Amino acid sequence: MCGIVGYVGPQQALDVVIEGLRRLEYRGYDSAGVAVVAGGEINSRKKAGKLANLEADIASNPLERSSTGIGHTRWATHGAPNDVNAHPHLSEDGSIAVIHNGIIENFASLRDKLIGEGVSLRSQTDTEVVAHLLAKQVLVTPNLGDALREVCQSLTGAFTLVVVQKDNPDLVVAARRNSPLVVGRGQGENFLASDVSAFIAHTRNAIELGQDQVVEITPNSVKVTDFQGNPVDVVEYEVTWDAAAAEKGGYDLFMLKEIAEQPKAVADTLLGRIDLSGKVSLDDLALDKKFLKNIDKIIITACGTAYHSGLIAKYAIEHWTRIPVEVELASEFRYRDPILTPTSLVVAISQSGETMDTLMAMRYAREQGAKVLAICNTNGSTIPRESDAVIYTHAGPEIAVASTKAFLTQIVALYLFAMYLAQTRGTGFGEAASEIALELASMPNKIDLVLDTAQGVKKIAEEIHNANSILFLGRSVGFPVALEGALKLKELAYMHAEGFAAGELKHGPIALIEDGLPVFVIVPPVEDELHDKIVSNIQEVRARGAKTIVLAEEGDESINEFADHIMRLPKCPSLMQPLLATVPLQIFSCEMATVKGYDVDQPRNLAKSVTVE
Ligand code: F6R
Repeated sequence: MCGIVGYVGPQQALDVVIEGLRRLEYRGYDSAGVAVVAGGEINSRKKAGKLANLEADIASNPLERSSTGIGHTRWATHGAPNDVNAHPHLSEDGSIAVIHNGIIENFASLRDKLIGEGVSLRSQTDTEVVAHLLAKQVLVTPNLGDALREVCQSLTGAFTLVVVQKDNPDLVVAARRNSPLVVGRGQGENFLASDVSAFIAHTRNAIELGQDQVVEITPNSVKVTDFQGNPVDVVEYEVTWDAAAAEKGGYDLFMLKEIAEQPKAVADTLLGRIDLSGKVSLDDLALDKKFLKNIDKIIITACGTAYHSGLIAKYAIEHWTRIPVEVELASEFRYRDPILTPTSLVVAISQSGETMDTLMAMRYAREQGAKVLAICNTNGSTIPRESDAVIYTHAGPEIAVASTKAFLTQIVALYLFAMYLAQTRGTGFGEAASEIALELASMPNKIDLVLDTAQGVKKIAEEIHNANSILFLGRSVGFPVALEGALKLKELAYMHAEGFAAGELKHGPIALIEDGLPVFVIVPPVEDELHDKIVSNIQEVRARGAKTIVLAEEGDESINEFADHIMRLPKCPSLMQPLLATVPLQIFSCEMATVKGYDVDQPRNLAKSVTVE
């Protein structure tokens, strides 16, 4: 939430910052702003709305050339998304500019104190107080880094703060607590950003910043300390993907590109981790075998789409390992006094690795003595760094706000972990292991087949785009797929959609069925014991007037007479079907949003990487 960029070096800072903001716009798009340091002044410009508004404003009235700049794209928390509340926020004398991601929880008392001291605040944001506090602090400790360290000690909540000062043309200073910040180390230039995509076109060398740290960058130096000023050893790493991976690459939409990348994302997540005999190698998994053998309970915690991947994985983990699994929304988990012991394993799933609800849930679990395994797509992000172990998904950068390829790779990573656990504990599933390995290995090709045939959903979207509501039904692993289909539709097409366990219909939701109501049904493979039951469910809703859109495997003719539309899926075992059935639902929601004229990559009110609770 909120994208942040900082730059010092020989390039025109404004260009680097705007380019970085363009790559980070998926993090928030309520308003955007920049500040550059030039001629002993700070020049700032900010505009409500998307980055394009800011760019148009700057084009009509250019800012001065500068070697030092910061930029921000906002997802509003405190104060409406207007020009005044947009970042940067300046001190009263204009000597200091601040951008911020997060929430300063004690801002109200700080604001009241500042007002009492005669400071006039211009905005409704929590951020502005930091600019005024810093302006006061540099009078006491003139070094900007020292001043920021001091101010940070008076703040509570979550923040990444990035600061420039008018008399310091080659310095950008930043602080981090609970919100993301990475450093890009270049040659004679350095970068700061919420994530590496902002500077990947300039350098692949990145530095992770830890909790409660301050970084000072000049063109030729990067200095990291804790809030007390003690030097900190940093971890530098190389980003494995390049700028092209974060571009649309010929697609109209990031989401369509990311949907199309799913076969590769799944293949990359499997690569080198499983052989065709079913042997799983997770060599870098930092959980010792003794602990794995003693686990007596697994709790999966995550949000949104990542939570749905956990719901799917529960079926596989319990089936293959016989360890009980609970799946819990991260925002609920730590508020219910969960029972955790040293033999509990908490699995935290997060594409971004920064989701605050998930981060807080896993921290809580560790405090209670449980071990935490992260399933994550973002190298060096906070959740894997604070976990006992991590399995990275190799989906590549996911830019569209609606998660697609990360979801499929989360399921794959969790399945690999389940197999590894079964293997380690000797809950051998013998012959089955090699069958599962073969099936997993065939998934990239099968997803490709689904992509080839799923384009028909465009016609369905055109036909039903005026519906008031759409329902999704599934059973077993098809149930979380139904939840995911409904979530995608809500977030992209802004319409009521709900996923139900098909068996629950008769206990209430069937009352919703009326003439013409579109109902998607995910039908398990013919040999699944639930197949015939769900075919009955299709008949029940059809008899009450529903328009049925049925996802069923090739050759399943039993559904033909009850389906208004059929989407065919390649044959596979039930546990693998979510990797195929989800894909047409992703494309459908994308098409629905397009037909309705909505912004697919940046849906309203949302942001990628939700760094507030
Ligand atoms: C939905 C979506 C969100 C995320 C959720 C968790 O399409 O993208 O529901 O899945 O905010 O995000 P991560 O996985 O980054 O923790």
